[in-house]
Amino acid sequence: MKIKKLSDNVISKISAGEVINSPSDVIKELIENSIDANANEIVIQVRGKGLNFIKVKDNGEGISKEDLVNVAKKHYTSKLFSFEDIYNLKTFGFRGEALYSISSVSKLIIRSSIDGIEGYEAIFEAGKLVDFRNCHCQKGTIVLVKEIFFNVPIRRNFILSSRSEVKKIKRTILNYVLAFENITFKVEISNKKLIFEKASSREERIKNIFGDFQKKILRTSDFSVEFYIFDKIDENRIFVNKRPVFDSKISQILSKSNIKNYIVFIEVNPKDIDINVHPKKLEVKFSKNLNIYDEIKNFLKDNVQVKIKPKIVQISKIEQKPQPKFITTISKNKLLIIHRERALRKIYIQKLLNKQYKTQMLAFPYVFKFQISDENIKILKLYGFSVNLKEKEILIDGIPDIIENISYEDLEQIISIFLRREHFLKLENFINAIVENAIKYSNLTDEEIILRLFSLKNPNVDDLNRRIIYEIDLDEIEQKF
Ligand SMILES: Nc1ncnc2c1ncn2[C@@H]1O[C@H](COP(=O)(O)OP(=O)(O)OP(=O)(O)O)[C@@H](O)[C@H]1O
Ligand SMILES: [Mg+2]
Repeated sequence: MKIKKLSDNVISKISAGEVINSPSDVIKELIENSIDANANEIVIQVRGKGLNFIKVKDNGEGISKEDLVNVAKKHYTSKLFSFEDIYNLKTFGFRGEALYSISSVSKLIIRSSIDGIEGYEAIFEAGKLVDFRNCHCQKGTIVLVKEIFFNVPIRRNFILSSRSEVKKIKRTILNYVLAFENITFKVEISNKKLIFEKASSREERIKNIFGDFQKKILRTSDFSVEFYIFDKIDENRIFVNKRPVFDSKISQILSKSNIKNYIVFIEVNPKDIDINVHPKKLEVKFSKNLNIYDEIKNFLKDNVQVKIKPKIVQISKIEQKPQPKFITTISKNKLLIIHRERALRKIYIQKLLNKQYKTQMLAFPYVFKFQISDENIKILKLYGFSVNLKEKEILIDGIPDIIENISYEDLEQIISIFLRREHFLKLENFINAIVENAIKYSNLTDEEIILRLFSLKNPNVDDLNRRIIYEIDLDEIEQKF
Protein backbone atom coordinates (compact mmCIF):
# COMPACT_ATOMS: atom_id res chain seq x y z
CA MET A 1 0.00 0.00 0.00
CA LYS A 2 1.29 3.47 -0.81
CA ILE A 3 1.78 6.02 1.95
CA LYS A 4 0.52 9.56 1.32
CA LYS A 5 0.45 12.66 3.49
CA LEU A 6 -3.08 13.66 4.49
CA SER A 7 -4.30 17.03 3.24
CA ASP A 8 -4.33 19.90 5.76
CA ASN A 9 -8.09 19.97 5.55
CA VAL A 10 -8.37 16.33 6.63
CA ILE A 11 -5.74 16.77 9.34
CA SER A 12 -7.54 19.72 10.91
CA LYS A 13 -10.89 17.89 10.95
CA ILE A 14 -9.30 14.85 12.58
CA SER A 15 -7.50 16.88 15.22
CA ALA A 16 -10.63 18.97 15.85
CA GLY A 17 -12.42 15.69 16.57
CA GLU A 18 -10.13 15.09 19.53
CA VAL A 19 -11.25 18.30 21.19
CA ILE A 20 -14.71 18.94 19.77
CA ASN A 21 -17.10 16.05 19.40
CA SER A 22 -20.34 17.75 20.23
CA PRO A 23 -21.94 21.13 20.98
CA SER A 24 -21.40 20.55 24.70
CA ASP A 25 -17.64 20.37 24.03
CA VAL A 26 -17.87 23.77 22.34
CA ILE A 27 -19.67 25.18 25.37
CA LYS A 28 -17.07 23.74 27.72
CA GLU A 29 -14.21 25.39 25.83
CA LEU A 30 -15.96 28.75 25.55
CA ILE A 31 -16.88 28.89 29.23
CA GLU A 32 -13.33 27.96 30.17
CA ASN A 33 -11.97 30.76 27.99
CA SER A 34 -14.31 33.25 29.66
CA ILE A 35 -13.21 32.09 33.10
CA ASP A 36 -9.56 32.32 32.04
CA ALA A 37 -10.27 35.92 30.98
CA ASN A 38 -11.34 36.65 34.59
CA ALA A 39 -14.98 37.33 33.76
CA ASN A 40 -17.41 37.62 36.65
CA GLU A 41 -20.49 37.36 34.49
CA ILE A 42 -20.99 34.82 31.73
CA VAL A 43 -24.08 34.70 29.56
CA ILE A 44 -24.69 31.48 27.69
CA GLN A 45 -27.33 31.09 25.00
CA VAL A 46 -28.05 27.83 23.26
CA ARG A 47 -30.73 26.99 20.73
CA GLY A 48 -31.98 23.43 20.48
CA LYS A 49 -29.16 20.94 20.62
CA GLY A 50 -26.65 23.71 20.06
CA LEU A 51 -25.79 22.67 16.53
CA ASN A 52 -26.94 25.91 14.96
CA PHE A 53 -26.46 28.46 17.66
CA ILE A 54 -24.25 28.80 20.70
CA LYS A 55 -23.36 32.19 22.12
CA VAL A 56 -21.13 32.85 25.10
CA LYS A 57 -20.65 36.40 26.26
CA ASP A 58 -18.32 37.49 29.03
CA ASN A 59 -17.17 40.68 30.72
CA GLY A 60 -13.58 39.53 30.91
CA GLU A 61 -10.35 41.08 29.71
CA GLY A 62 -11.18 40.98 26.02
CA ILE A 63 -8.89 40.31 23.08
CA SER A 64 -6.74 42.97 21.40
CA LYS A 65 -7.01 43.75 17.70
CA GLU A 66 -3.64 42.12 16.94
CA ASP A 67 -4.53 38.94 18.82
CA LEU A 68 -8.04 38.62 17.46
CA VAL A 69 -6.83 37.73 13.96
CA ASN A 70 -4.75 34.91 15.44
CA VAL A 71 -7.01 33.39 18.11
CA ALA A 72 -8.34 30.65 15.87
CA LYS A 73 -4.93 29.58 14.61
CA LYS A 74 -3.56 26.33 15.91
CA HIS A 75 -1.14 26.63 18.86
CA TYR A 76 -1.76 30.35 19.42
CA THR A 77 -2.23 30.93 23.12
CA SER A 78 -1.63 33.63 25.70
CA LYS A 79 -1.51 31.13 28.53
CA LEU A 80 1.60 29.02 28.11
CA PHE A 81 5.13 30.02 27.19
CA SER A 82 7.41 27.18 28.16
CA PHE A 83 6.56 23.51 28.62
CA GLU A 84 7.28 23.73 32.35
CA ASP A 85 4.43 26.23 32.68
CA ILE A 86 2.08 23.27 32.37
CA TYR A 87 3.02 22.39 35.93
CA ASN A 88 2.16 25.80 37.22
CA LEU A 89 -1.09 26.46 35.41
CA LYS A 90 -3.67 28.84 36.80
CA THR A 91 -5.81 28.68 33.66
CA PHE A 92 -8.01 26.08 32.00
CA GLY A 93 -6.41 26.66 28.62
CA PHE A 94 -2.83 26.05 27.56
CA ARG A 95 -2.86 24.34 24.15
CA GLY A 96 -4.13 27.13 21.93
CA GLU A 97 -6.31 24.59 20.25
CA ALA A 98 -9.92 25.08 21.29
CA LEU A 99 -10.88 27.96 19.02
CA TYR A 100 -8.89 26.44 16.19
CA SER A 101 -10.77 23.17 16.56
CA ILE A 102 -14.12 24.90 16.85
CA SER A 103 -13.49 27.05 13.80
CA SER A 104 -12.44 24.03 11.72
CA VAL A 105 -15.89 22.51 12.08
CA SER A 106 -18.20 25.52 12.29
CA LYS A 107 -18.81 29.16 11.50
CA LEU A 108 -17.23 31.18 14.27
CA ILE A 109 -17.75 34.85 15.01
CA ILE A 110 -15.81 36.60 17.77
CA ARG A 111 -16.46 40.15 18.91
CA SER A 112 -14.20 41.59 21.53
CA SER A 113 -13.05 44.77 23.19
CA ILE A 114 -10.39 45.28 25.82
CA ASP A 115 -11.64 48.70 26.89
CA GLY A 116 -15.28 48.94 25.84
CA ILE A 117 -14.38 51.75 23.43
CA GLU A 118 -12.64 50.09 20.53
CA GLY A 119 -14.01 46.72 19.46
CA TYR A 120 -13.46 44.29 16.61
CA GLU A 121 -15.29 41.46 15.00
CA ALA A 122 -13.60 38.51 13.33
CA ILE A 123 -15.40 35.87 11.30
CA PHE A 124 -13.83 32.48 10.69
CA GLU A 125 -15.06 29.73 8.44
CA ALA A 126 -13.62 26.24 8.51
CA GLY A 127 -10.57 27.63 10.27
CA LYS A 128 -9.93 30.60 7.96
CA LEU A 129 -10.36 34.26 8.83
CA VAL A 130 -12.90 35.48 6.26
CA ASP A 131 -13.83 38.90 7.62
CA PHE A 132 -12.52 41.45 10.09
CA ARG A 133 -14.09 44.78 11.00
CA ASN A 134 -14.74 47.35 13.70
CA CYS A 135 -17.72 46.83 15.95
CA HIS A 136 -19.36 48.45 18.91
CA CYS A 137 -19.06 46.20 21.89
CA GLN A 138 -18.75 46.31 25.62
CA LYS A 139 -15.55 45.31 27.37
CA GLY A 140 -15.25 41.56 27.09
CA THR A 141 -15.82 38.95 24.47
CA ILE A 142 -18.75 37.46 22.62
CA VAL A 143 -18.23 34.20 20.83
CA LEU A 144 -20.90 32.93 18.47
CA VAL A 145 -20.70 29.46 17.02
CA LYS A 146 -23.03 28.52 14.20
CA GLU A 147 -23.62 25.46 12.07
CA ILE A 148 -21.41 23.11 14.01
CA PHE A 149 -20.21 20.17 11.87
CA PHE A 150 -21.59 21.73 8.69
CA ASN A 151 -18.57 20.14 7.02
CA VAL A 152 -18.73 16.84 8.91
CA PRO A 153 -22.27 15.71 8.04
CA ILE A 154 -22.00 12.30 9.67
CA ARG A 155 -21.19 13.87 13.04
CA ARG A 156 -23.94 16.42 12.56
CA ASN A 157 -26.52 13.75 11.86
CA PHE A 158 -25.32 11.79 14.82
CA ILE A 159 -25.89 14.74 17.15
CA LEU A 160 -29.22 15.54 15.49
CA SER A 161 -30.46 12.09 16.37
CA SER A 162 -28.89 12.09 19.83
CA ARG A 163 -31.37 12.16 22.69
CA SER A 164 -28.89 13.22 25.30
CA GLU A 165 -27.17 16.28 23.83
CA VAL A 166 -29.31 18.85 25.63
CA LYS A 167 -28.73 17.01 28.89
CA LYS A 168 -24.99 17.01 28.24
CA ILE A 169 -25.10 20.74 27.59
CA LYS A 170 -26.89 21.40 30.87
CA ARG A 171 -24.50 19.19 32.81
CA THR A 172 -21.51 20.92 31.27
CA ILE A 173 -22.82 24.34 32.21
CA LEU A 174 -23.74 23.20 35.70
CA ASN A 175 -20.17 21.99 36.29
CA TYR A 176 -18.85 25.53 35.99
CA VAL A 177 -21.78 27.02 37.89
CA LEU A 178 -20.91 24.71 40.78
CA ALA A 179 -17.17 25.34 40.71
CA PHE A 180 -17.31 29.12 40.28
CA GLU A 181 -19.73 30.54 42.81
CA ASN A 182 -18.16 33.99 42.39
CA ILE A 183 -19.36 34.20 38.79
CA THR A 184 -22.92 35.09 37.81
CA PHE A 185 -24.15 32.75 35.09
CA LYS A 186 -27.08 33.67 32.92
CA VAL A 187 -28.19 30.68 30.96
CA GLU A 188 -30.73 30.51 28.18
CA ILE A 189 -31.43 27.17 26.58
CA SER A 190 -34.14 27.22 23.91
CA ASN A 191 -35.76 30.35 25.41
CA LYS A 192 -35.77 29.05 28.98
CA LYS A 193 -33.86 31.49 31.15
CA LEU A 194 -32.02 30.72 34.35
CA ILE A 195 -29.90 32.99 36.43
CA PHE A 196 -27.34 31.81 38.92
CA GLU A 197 -26.44 34.93 40.85
CA LYS A 198 -23.00 35.26 42.34
CA ALA A 199 -23.06 33.43 45.69
CA SER A 200 -21.09 34.25 48.78
CA SER A 201 -19.79 30.72 49.25
CA ARG A 202 -19.55 27.39 47.50
CA GLU A 203 -21.98 25.95 50.06
CA GLU A 204 -24.57 28.56 49.23
CA ARG A 205 -24.38 27.93 45.51
CA ILE A 206 -24.55 24.17 45.90
CA LYS A 207 -27.46 24.44 48.29
CA ASN A 208 -29.36 26.68 45.91
CA ILE A 209 -29.05 24.08 43.21
CA PHE A 210 -29.18 20.72 44.94
CA GLY A 211 -30.57 21.36 48.41
CA ASP A 212 -29.14 20.01 51.63
CA PHE A 213 -25.92 18.05 51.94
CA GLN A 214 -23.46 16.81 54.43
CA LYS A 215 -19.94 18.19 54.14
CA LYS A 216 -16.63 16.62 55.07
CA ILE A 217 -13.18 18.05 54.63
CA LEU A 218 -9.88 16.28 54.39
CA ARG A 219 -6.85 18.54 54.71
CA THR A 220 -3.23 17.57 54.40
CA SER A 221 -0.17 19.73 53.91
CA ASP A 222 -0.25 18.95 50.18
CA PHE A 223 -3.90 18.99 49.25
CA SER A 224 -7.45 19.36 50.46
CA VAL A 225 -10.62 17.51 49.55
CA GLU A 226 -14.15 18.75 50.19
CA PHE A 227 -16.86 16.11 50.02
CA TYR A 228 -20.45 17.25 49.54
CA ILE A 229 -22.66 14.26 50.14
CA PHE A 230 -26.30 14.17 49.09
CA ASP A 231 -29.22 11.91 49.52
CA LYS A 232 -29.76 12.10 45.78
CA ILE A 233 -28.10 13.99 42.97
CA ASP A 234 -28.46 13.89 39.19
CA GLU A 235 -24.84 12.98 38.61
CA ASN A 236 -21.70 12.61 40.70
CA ARG A 237 -18.95 15.12 40.07
CA ILE A 238 -15.27 15.41 40.83
CA PHE A 239 -13.30 18.63 40.42
CA VAL A 240 -9.57 19.05 40.64
CA ASN A 241 -8.55 22.67 41.03
CA LYS A 242 -12.07 23.50 39.84
CA ARG A 243 -11.64 21.47 36.67
CA PRO A 244 -14.41 18.90 36.15
CA VAL A 245 -12.67 15.55 35.68
CA PHE A 246 -13.28 11.81 35.70
CA ASP A 247 -11.30 9.77 38.13
CA SER A 248 -12.38 6.16 38.29
CA LYS A 249 -10.16 5.44 41.31
CA ILE A 250 -11.74 8.15 43.42
CA SER A 251 -15.22 7.12 42.25
CA GLN A 252 -14.48 3.58 43.32
CA ILE A 253 -13.20 4.60 46.72
CA LEU A 254 -16.31 6.67 47.33
CA SER A 255 -18.61 3.94 46.21
CA LYS A 256 -16.88 1.41 48.45
CA SER A 257 -17.20 3.84 51.35
CA ASN A 258 -20.92 3.78 50.71
CA ILE A 259 -21.05 7.35 49.39
CA LYS A 260 -23.28 7.20 46.35
CA ASN A 261 -24.27 10.79 45.68
CA TYR A 262 -21.54 13.36 45.83
CA ILE A 263 -19.65 16.36 44.56
CA VAL A 264 -15.95 16.36 45.41
CA PHE A 265 -13.61 19.33 45.15
CA ILE A 266 -9.90 18.60 45.28
CA GLU A 267 -7.41 21.44 45.60
CA VAL A 268 -3.80 20.65 44.97
CA ASN A 269 -0.66 22.52 44.06
CA PRO A 270 -0.56 22.62 40.21
CA LYS A 271 2.96 21.23 40.30
CA ASP A 272 1.57 17.98 41.69
CA ILE A 273 -0.80 17.23 38.83
CA ASP A 274 -0.43 16.57 35.15
CA ILE A 275 -3.31 17.91 33.10
CA ASN A 276 -1.83 17.00 29.79
CA VAL A 277 -3.00 13.40 29.80
CA HIS A 278 -6.35 13.65 28.01
CA PRO A 279 -7.15 15.51 24.76
CA LYS A 280 -10.21 17.11 26.34
CA LYS A 281 -8.49 17.59 29.71
CA LEU A 282 -11.09 15.34 31.32
CA GLU A 283 -8.57 13.47 33.41
CA VAL A 284 -5.61 14.47 35.52
CA LYS A 285 -2.74 12.49 36.96
CA PHE A 286 -1.72 13.09 40.56
CA SER A 287 1.90 12.97 41.58
CA LYS A 288 2.65 9.70 43.41
CA ASN A 289 4.13 11.63 46.34
CA LEU A 290 0.71 12.91 47.25
CA ASN A 291 -0.60 9.48 48.11
CA ILE A 292 -4.01 10.98 47.52
CA TYR A 293 -5.96 7.77 46.97
CA ASP A 294 -4.81 6.17 50.20
CA GLU A 295 -5.38 9.35 52.12
CA ILE A 296 -8.96 9.55 50.87
CA LYS A 297 -9.57 5.88 51.55
CA ASN A 298 -8.38 6.20 55.14
CA PHE A 299 -10.28 9.38 55.72
CA LEU A 300 -13.52 7.81 54.59
CA LYS A 301 -12.99 4.57 56.44
CA ASP A 302 -14.62 5.84 59.60
CA ASN A 303 -17.17 7.69 57.63
CA VAL A 304 -20.69 7.09 58.86
CA GLN A 305 -23.23 8.54 56.55
CA VAL A 306 -25.81 10.73 58.16
CA LYS A 307 -29.28 10.82 56.70
CA ILE A 308 -29.70 14.00 54.74
CA LYS A 309 -32.99 15.75 54.33
CA PRO A 310 -34.11 14.76 50.86
CA LYS A 311 -34.68 17.69 48.67
CA ILE A 312 -33.23 18.49 45.33
CA VAL A 313 -33.68 22.04 44.23
CA GLN A 314 -32.42 22.60 40.78
CA ILE A 315 -32.79 26.22 40.06
CA SER A 316 -31.57 29.17 42.02
CA LYS A 317 -33.51 32.06 40.65
CA ILE A 318 -35.89 32.95 37.90
CA GLU A 319 -36.06 36.48 36.63
CA GLN A 320 -39.34 38.19 37.49
CA LYS A 321 -40.34 41.81 37.21
CA PRO A 322 -42.98 43.43 39.39
CA GLN A 323 -46.11 44.06 37.36
CA PRO A 324 -48.67 46.87 37.55
CA LYS A 325 -52.20 45.99 38.61
CA PHE A 326 -53.88 47.74 35.73
CA ILE A 327 -53.09 48.44 32.10
CA THR A 328 -54.82 51.04 30.01
CA THR A 329 -55.65 51.58 26.38
CA ILE A 330 -57.88 53.86 24.35
CA SER A 331 -60.56 52.46 22.10
CA LYS A 332 -62.95 54.63 20.11
CA ASN A 333 -63.89 57.43 22.47
CA LYS A 334 -63.18 55.52 25.63
CA LEU A 335 -60.36 54.95 28.06
CA LEU A 336 -60.24 51.25 28.98
CA ILE A 337 -58.75 50.27 32.33
CA ILE A 338 -57.92 46.59 32.28
CA HIS A 339 -57.33 44.43 35.35
CA ARG A 340 -54.08 42.78 34.27
CA GLU A 341 -54.28 39.64 36.38
CA ARG A 342 -57.91 38.91 35.52
CA ALA A 343 -57.23 39.51 31.84
CA LEU A 344 -54.36 37.05 31.98
CA ARG A 345 -56.53 34.57 33.83
CA LYS A 346 -59.14 34.76 31.10
CA ILE A 347 -56.49 34.28 28.40
CA TYR A 348 -54.79 31.31 30.04
CA ILE A 349 -57.97 29.53 31.14
CA GLN A 350 -59.21 29.66 27.57
CA LYS A 351 -55.93 28.24 26.30
CA LEU A 352 -55.96 25.48 28.83
CA LEU A 353 -59.59 24.49 28.26
CA ASN A 354 -59.15 24.57 24.49
CA LYS A 355 -56.01 22.45 24.81
CA GLN A 356 -53.91 25.12 23.13
CA TYR A 357 -50.64 24.11 24.74
CA LYS A 358 -47.60 22.00 24.10
CA THR A 359 -45.03 20.55 26.45
CA GLN A 360 -41.90 22.65 26.78
CA MET A 361 -38.80 21.12 28.30
CA LEU A 362 -37.29 22.64 31.43
CA ALA A 363 -33.66 23.68 31.31
CA PHE A 364 -32.98 21.59 34.39
CA PRO A 365 -35.37 18.85 35.51
CA TYR A 366 -36.96 18.95 38.95
CA VAL A 367 -36.96 15.91 41.18
CA PHE A 368 -39.60 15.35 43.87
CA LYS A 369 -39.65 12.75 46.58
CA PHE A 370 -43.28 11.94 45.98
CA GLN A 371 -45.18 8.99 44.78
CA ILE A 372 -48.39 9.68 42.94
CA SER A 373 -50.89 7.35 41.42
CA ASP A 374 -50.90 6.30 37.77
CA GLU A 375 -54.22 8.01 37.36
CA ASN A 376 -52.79 11.33 38.52
CA ILE A 377 -49.74 10.94 36.33
CA LYS A 378 -52.10 10.55 33.40
CA ILE A 379 -53.70 13.85 34.33
CA LEU A 380 -50.32 15.57 34.60
CA LYS A 381 -49.36 14.30 31.15
CA LEU A 382 -52.71 15.28 29.69
CA TYR A 383 -52.08 18.85 30.80
CA GLY A 384 -48.68 19.01 29.18
CA PHE A 385 -46.29 17.95 31.94
CA SER A 386 -43.46 15.60 31.05
CA VAL A 387 -43.15 13.12 33.89
CA ASN A 388 -40.59 10.39 34.50
CA LEU A 389 -40.81 7.97 37.35
CA LYS A 390 -37.85 6.82 39.30
CA GLU A 391 -37.90 4.69 42.38
CA LYS A 392 -39.85 6.70 44.99
CA GLU A 393 -39.30 9.87 43.02
CA ILE A 394 -40.88 11.73 40.21
CA LEU A 395 -38.84 13.75 37.83
CA ILE A 396 -40.50 16.55 35.91
CA ASP A 397 -38.61 17.84 32.94
CA GLY A 398 -41.39 19.47 30.97
CA ILE A 399 -44.33 21.77 31.68
CA PRO A 400 -47.21 23.09 29.56
CA ASP A 401 -45.94 26.06 27.59
CA ILE A 402 -48.66 28.35 28.86
CA ILE A 403 -46.41 28.57 31.92
CA GLU A 404 -43.32 30.39 30.71
CA ASN A 405 -41.07 29.28 33.53
CA ILE A 406 -41.41 27.91 37.04
CA SER A 407 -39.53 27.64 40.33
CA TYR A 408 -39.10 24.41 42.21
CA GLU A 409 -41.40 25.53 45.00
CA ASP A 410 -44.21 26.53 42.68
CA LEU A 411 -44.04 23.29 40.77
CA GLU A 412 -43.95 21.40 44.06
CA GLN A 413 -47.18 23.11 45.04
CA ILE A 414 -48.90 22.16 41.82
CA ILE A 415 -47.86 18.53 42.06
CA SER A 416 -48.64 18.23 45.75
CA ILE A 417 -52.31 18.89 45.00
CA PHE A 418 -52.37 15.25 43.99
CA LEU A 419 -51.04 14.14 47.35
CA ARG A 420 -54.02 15.41 49.29
CA ARG A 421 -56.53 12.85 50.44
CA GLU A 422 -59.78 14.40 49.37
CA HIS A 423 -60.72 13.89 45.73
CA PHE A 424 -63.23 16.64 45.77
CA LEU A 425 -62.13 19.62 43.63
CA LYS A 426 -58.73 18.08 42.94
CA LEU A 427 -58.80 18.69 39.19
CA GLU A 428 -60.22 22.14 39.64
CA ASN A 429 -57.47 23.04 42.08
CA PHE A 430 -54.91 21.64 39.70
CA ILE A 431 -56.19 23.70 36.77
CA ASN A 432 -56.31 26.74 38.98
CA ALA A 433 -52.72 26.24 40.05
CA ILE A 434 -51.56 25.95 36.45
CA VAL A 435 -53.35 29.16 35.55
CA GLU A 436 -52.02 31.00 38.57
CA ASN A 437 -48.48 30.08 37.63
CA ALA A 438 -49.09 30.97 34.00
CA ILE A 439 -50.09 34.43 35.27
CA LYS A 440 -47.20 34.68 37.71
CA TYR A 441 -44.58 33.86 35.10
CA SER A 442 -46.29 35.48 32.14
CA ASN A 443 -44.04 37.29 29.67
CA LEU A 444 -46.91 38.85 27.72
CA THR A 445 -46.52 42.55 27.07
CA ASP A 446 -49.41 44.93 27.70
CA GLU A 447 -50.11 45.11 23.97
CA GLU A 448 -50.22 41.34 23.69
CA ILE A 449 -52.55 41.06 26.67
CA ILE A 450 -54.92 43.61 25.16
CA LEU A 451 -54.86 41.99 21.72
CA ARG A 452 -55.45 38.51 23.05
CA LEU A 453 -58.14 39.59 25.47
CA PHE A 454 -60.14 41.26 22.75
CA SER A 455 -59.88 38.23 20.51
CA LEU A 456 -61.82 36.24 23.11
CA LYS A 457 -65.55 35.97 23.51
CA ASN A 458 -66.92 38.13 26.28
CA PRO A 459 -63.67 39.84 27.35
CA ASN A 460 -65.40 41.90 30.04
CA VAL A 461 -65.62 39.27 32.76
CA ASP A 462 -63.44 36.37 33.84
CA ASP A 463 -64.54 32.82 34.62
CA LEU A 464 -65.30 33.81 38.22
CA ASN A 465 -67.60 36.51 36.90
CA ARG A 466 -65.33 39.35 37.97
CA ARG A 467 -65.02 42.54 35.98
CA ILE A 468 -61.93 42.73 33.75
CA ILE A 469 -62.46 46.03 31.94
CA TYR A 470 -63.65 49.37 33.24
CA GLU A 471 -64.53 52.00 30.65
CA ILE A 472 -64.53 55.77 31.03
CA ASP A 473 -65.72 58.18 28.34
CA LEU A 474 -62.90 60.44 27.21
CA ASP A 475 -65.41 63.33 27.34
CA GLU A 476 -66.01 62.62 30.98
CA ILE A 477 -62.27 62.78 31.66
CA GLU A 478 -62.06 65.95 29.62
CA GLN A 479 -64.61 67.59 31.90
CA LYS A 480 -62.51 66.84 34.96
CA PHE A 481 -59.78 69.18 33.72
N1 LIG B 1 -13.35 34.85 26.11
C1 LIG B 1 -12.08 35.22 25.91
N2 LIG B 1 -11.60 36.35 26.48
C2 LIG B 1 -10.31 36.74 26.31
N3 LIG B 1 -9.42 36.06 25.55
C3 LIG B 1 -9.82 34.94 24.94
C4 LIG B 1 -11.17 34.45 25.08
N4 LIG B 1 -11.29 33.33 24.35
C5 LIG B 1 -10.08 33.11 23.80
N5 LIG B 1 -9.20 34.07 24.14
C6 LIG B 1 -7.79 34.18 23.70
O1 LIG B 1 -7.62 33.32 22.60
C7 LIG B 1 -6.59 32.39 22.85
C8 LIG B 1 -6.94 31.09 22.18
O2 LIG B 1 -8.04 30.47 22.85
P1 LIG B 1 -8.14 28.89 22.82
O3 LIG B 1 -9.24 28.45 23.68
O4 LIG B 1 -8.13 28.46 21.40
O5 LIG B 1 -6.75 28.42 23.44
P2 LIG B 1 -6.29 28.43 24.96
O6 LIG B 1 -7.40 28.77 25.86
O7 LIG B 1 -5.09 29.26 25.04
O8 LIG B 1 -5.88 26.90 25.13
P3 LIG B 1 -6.85 25.61 25.07
O9 LIG B 1 -6.84 25.11 23.67
O10 LIG B 1 -6.19 24.67 26.00
O11 LIG B 1 -8.20 26.05 25.49
C9 LIG B 1 -6.45 32.32 24.35
O12 LIG B 1 -5.14 31.96 24.75
C10 LIG B 1 -6.82 33.74 24.78
O13 LIG B 1 -5.71 34.58 24.72
MG1 LIG C 1 -9.26 27.78 25.78
